Amino acid sequence: MERLLQSTADGSHTISIPAMEVTYHSKHGAIQESNHVFLDAGLNKIADMNLPEISILEMGFGTGLNALLTLIRSGKKSVRYESLETFPISAGIVQQLNYCEILERRDLQPLYENMHASPWESEISITDTFVLIKRNINLINFHSDRKYHLIYFDAFAPRAQPELWTEQVFSNLFSVLEPNGILVTYCSKSIVRKAMQAAGFKVEKIPGPRGKREMLRAYRYDPILPSK
Ligand SMILES: C[S@@+](CC[C@H](N)C(=O)[O-])C[C@H]1O[C@@H](n2cnc3c(N)ncnc32)[C@H](O)[C@@H]1O
Repeated sequence: MERLLQSTADGSHTISIPAMEVTYHSKHGAIQESNHVFLDAGLNKIADMNLPEISILEMGFGTGLNALLTLIRSGKKSVRYESLETFPISAGIVQQLNYCEILERRDLQPLYENMHASPWESEISITDTFVLIKRNINLINFHSDRKYHLIYFDAFAPRAQPELWTEQVFSNLFSVLEPNGILVTYCSKSIVRKAMQAAGFKVEKIPGPRGKREMLRAYRYDPILPSK
């Protein structure tokens, strides 16, 4: 399927797939959306827990923007970042993506390209504190004996991928979350919220990124442990 580079309102790029009528990010700003949905509403909340290492699972590696922003935001904190992706983007597209330039972190461009070039299915130390594991598998077939503190759920919209926003998929993700772990997504549709609740999540609607009134944050709530 053809993938095209596109600019968004904050100047950062996204990718569109005309055949599916989808883009990887909001037209109101790819970086602003990722920062708001995944970093501010997700990573910051987990960082409050002062864990020795944060274990993150991402659905949809795509441009690697969430991974790059997480690496920057996590600073010296140890992060294990596992990301699932069925259709990796080409090296040609990676080199054109302007995230490091817009973030005024051109020094990180080689490291960003390393994230994409690194082998799949292996634990790769991108820095001393950031370990990346890219897995070339479909979320539907995802199983893990590991537990994660935070899930970035970044599939295409339910209109384009209804099979991924189901109770069954969220039950599987619930089962791999640590107690009081969090799943965040840009979507706020009530059908999605209900599927999450049926899977056992406690779900809250919180203010969305620019151009979206709301988004969802879902918890594997454990009343025994203090929740932050
Ligand atoms: C909305 S894009 C977001 C990508 C990424 N987080 C980013 O910031 O660029 C969704 C991504 O999920 C991938 N994807 C779609 N269906 C998938 C599936 N069933 N399992 C794993 N990845 C999938 C797509 O190829 C795409 O890269």
